[in-house]
Amino acid sequence: MYWEKLSHDEITAHIDSALEQNMNYKTKKILGVPASYLDEEQFYDDAPFLEDSPFMKTLIANPNHIGCHTLNEDSEPFFKGTQKIEIELIKLCAEEILGGDKDAQDGYVASGGTEANIQAQWIYRNYFIKECGAKMDEIAVVYSEDSHYSMPKGANILNIPSVVLKVDDDSRMILQSDLEQKISGAKQNGIKYFILIMNMSTTMFGSVDDIIRISDYFEENEINYKLHVDGAFGGFIYPFTNEESSYTFKNNRISSFTLDGHKMLQTPYGTGIFIIRKGFMEYALTEEASYVQGKDYTMCGSRSGANAISIWMILKTHGSDGLKVKMRNLSDKAKSLCKKLKKLEIELYHNSHINIIAIRGKYISPQLAKKYALVPDTHNSNPNWYKIVIMDHVKQGVLDNFMIDLKSSLQ
Ligand SMILES: Cc1ncc(COP(=O)(O)O)c(C=O)c1O
Repeated sequence: MYWEKLSHDEITAHIDSALEQNMNYKTKKILGVPASYLDEEQFYDDAPFLEDSPFMKTLIANPNHIGCHTLNEDSEPFFKGTQKIEIELIKLCAEEILGGDKDAQDGYVASGGTEANIQAQWIYRNYFIKECGAKMDEIAVVYSEDSHYSMPKGANILNIPSVVLKVDDDSRMILQSDLEQKISGAKQNGIKYFILIMNMSTTMFGSVDDIIRISDYFEENEINYKLHVDGAFGGFIYPFTNEESSYTFKNNRISSFTLDGHKMLQTPYGTGIFIIRKGFMEYALTEEASYVQGKDYTMCGSRSGANAISIWMILKTHGSDGLKVKMRNLSDKAKSLCKKLKKLEIELYHNSHINIIAIRGKYISPQLAKKYALVPDTHNSNPNWYKIVIMDHVKQGVLDNFMIDLKSSLQ
């Protein structure tokens, strides 16, 4: 994994040049496009700070990145300049962060992890229908009970059933016995095609599914499946903290990934990323999108090009070496907190490559949870777990104070 860090001036110059290649609503004769620059009463484009703020400048220029640009050189010509940056961004994520071959992946910047996860399910559902003649009730989505709720949401929207796998309460790993029993049961109920979702970190625990063991089961039993990785939480930390990871495109069982800039990268909301091996995006083609040049292959349709710019800017601001240091610092800080918690014999879950620590609910009083804004696994009754997520805003002083309060609440 390597890409260079750029200075703020280099980033600004690159984005200025991209914006110049875009159509400019102010200077060109544009009659047919049902969009414009942003309303000038609030979003005036002569504010002095804009000169030095490429993201804000792009937001105000308002480029629409509708469609999938890695797929189609002839997509909407109006915003060519900033679309090129999105193509560069997808390539960087797919090839440098996820180890993909050169020019072997497609992708786009989605509204978030939810959309990217549903996009994957949509593509594989259509793939099984088109290529295998599958009926809707012969396709199921398979995921662990710790998976994000975008999995059942997607299955519900796409009208296909879910197979939810139980995990061990301590290790958070999928139970082999439950996997075997549920998949055999699904097959007996007529399911022939499986959309398998593996977590490159779950939301609540930071657990990473045992992808080799689970996919071995599908391979050994010659089950027809496609594998999507939900890296919405871990996608911008795990590849930087674990060089031995099986969660890359080098693992040919994986077809696609979700990443999310608006978690670990601290980009604005609206910066999910969907990446898939070439040859699959076409299954999400909406032929009827005839007014869109290059057609549409995404769930969302119109989307702001400024979101892609923001992710590209952050990746280039740090460079791969800078992000490695940043992400390792976060996971080291989590490890150090775990050590202190374990000294107090507190039961917890922590994956050493991830910045989440889940603490069993019985150790956390409601007052402590409220004071430190800890997030519970459920808001309904007595939570089983509370999580701490070590991010940039989590300063050592706050963690030290949390430990003092925790100790005294336990006495
Ligand atoms: C593992 C995982 N997947 C998917 C999502 C959904 O992401 P978003 O809220 O960006 O749609 C989240 C959000 O927390 C997540 O943690």
